[in-house]
Amino acid sequence: MPRGRYSRRIQTPILPEAGQNRYLRFFPADALYRTPDLFPCLDSRSLFGSDAPMEMEVGCGTGEFLCALAPRYPAINFVGVEISPKALRYAAQTAAGLALNNLLFLCADFRLAAPLLAPSSLRALYLHFPDPHMQPRYRKHRLFDAHFLDIAHHALEPDGLLSVMTDVEALFWEMLETAEADPRFRKRHAERFLTGWDFPVASRFQKTWQAKGLPILRFELLKR
Ligand SMILES: C[S@@+](CC[C@H](N)C(=O)[O-])C[C@H]1O[C@@H](n2cnc3c(N)ncnc32)[C@H](O)[C@@H]1O
Repeated sequence: MPRGRYSRRIQTPILPEAGQNRYLRFFPADALYRTPDLFPCLDSRSLFGSDAPMEMEVGCGTGEFLCALAPRYPAINFVGVEISPKALRYAAQTAAGLALNNLLFLCADFRLAAPLLAPSSLRALYLHFPDPHMQPRYRKHRLFDAHFLDIAHHALEPDGLLSVMTDVEALFWEMLETAEADPRFRKRHAERFLTGWDFPVASRFQKTWQAKGLPILRFELLKR
């Protein structure tokens, strides 16, 4: 491999700072923007030191979904990416209580961290209840768009799963139409879309919407 861009890349996991929870890594936005080469590739080997399959939730909030999945599936590594340090401190505290080796949270803007994802490094990518940003001037903050599908296609292994859900109907139709226009994915289900919750564990927002009796709209794509 030619020297240059990759020669500066950190090959070992970023170690926690003194006193920092071992389940939480900070990827500051300015450093990701200016010196992305200084961060490790995002794959199972770099983050966990193993070759187990890896699954990622984008915008994991306080981490309930992954903290519930990780003990159930010890042979899978789970990573949550979240921009809010406050939410992630809570998530990391829960993870510390579980004392698992297959769970990690990255405090990062996913849009800046996504180029670090290694090709075919993910078995599944979850985008559950993304912030809707319905007002035109905030749309640029939305996570799901055609570019998000580029990232998902790059990072997912063949037949890897992209799970998307929301309680916001207008956002849902836009996301579904964007997904349906992308020939690199196929639906995992025969129906055009799914409703309700079908995972063995719940997320904080899922519990909230379900308690209020609000519908959950979702679709699942598989990388061709
Ligand atoms: C509505 S919450 C959903 C949390 C969780 N997925 C759940 O189901 O409970 C959306 C989360 O996405 C996070 N988020 C928004 N933009 C982000 C970005 N660019 N990178 C990482 N996280 C982001 C927000 O901070 C928030 O915690």
